[in-house]
Amino acid sequence: MAATVAERAAPLGQPGEPYAEELLVAVELALACGEAMRQCLESKGGGVSWKDAGGIDPVTETDEANERRVVETLKDRFPSHLVIGEEAAAQAGCIPQLTGAPTWVVDPIDGTTNFVHGLRLSCVSIGLCCGGEPVLGVVYEPYADELFAAVRGQGAFLNGRRLAADGARRLGEAMVLFELGYERSEEGVALILGALQKLLLAGVRATRHVGSAVLSIAWVACGRASAYYTGVSKEGGKPWDYAAAVVIAAEAGAHVCSLDGGRFTIEGKSCLCAASEDLATELAAVVGSS
Ligand code: IPD
Repeated sequence: MAATVAERAAPLGQPGEPYAEELLVAVELALACGEAMRQCLESKGGGVSWKDAGGIDPVTETDEANERRVVETLKDRFPSHLVIGEEAAAQAGCIPQLTGAPTWVVDPIDGTTNFVHGLRLSCVSIGLCCGGEPVLGVVYEPYADELFAAVRGQGAFLNGRRLAADGARRLGEAMVLFELGYERSEEGVALILGALQKLLLAGVRATRHVGSAVLSIAWVACGRASAYYTGVSKEGGKPWDYAAAVVIAAEAGAHVCSLDGGRFTIEGKSCLCAASEDLATELAAVVGSS
């Protein structure tokens, strides 16, 4: 028999715990959106269009249907809350500024290019910010049925198992994930590749590019990677790339800051997330000065 939403969310979402109701709704929505993604890839269906003239930043019918489902349900269940969705923001041509009000920040499919190519590295991301700070995150990767969830102060979990970052303290023992994003200017590409070159020459153990900012950060939380960085040039993420995942990472003990080692905000241009503060400092010194 399939697990209930409460069973999938456990040990989070217990009655009386802060954000329990919000967590259960986010888990239910993430699982439903993930199912739509799985079905779409299996049927090799779903239309694709492009947000840019060059045809590198895609949006699919599944992105749009997922976002509609999430936004409608959240507005219905939490009428006083605000909702920021990636696709609505893209259509409006601007990202609403975060206020202190409870605000959901949604990426209906993160890793859309992977999704379009049938590469099973994408996820749904649903985060909640209160007082301008991320407090709850749910990330669902449907192909391996991996549900990441965290609430500030209550821990981070993957399919109910408590998460802890891998604890790496030096680049020499670190698997570092980086981002290429949609940056194609000569200067921007040179900066991104320059940072990567410095990282390799600094003796990093390994680097990988996943193509999903959300999964990259979630993987730092679960110890598959030691660190992730983005924002060397204009490849840095947007609020929906971070809102849910950084709560999961921070609750797993990871250190989250901006690329120069300063305070991270989800509206900032960069993100550095590392298994330890020592590793964050070393990584920031190498790539943050690019
Ligand atoms: C993108 C992915 C990609 C990152 C971009 C994001 P999308 O999200 O996370 O890895 O480099 O900055 O916009 O377009 O797949 O939702």
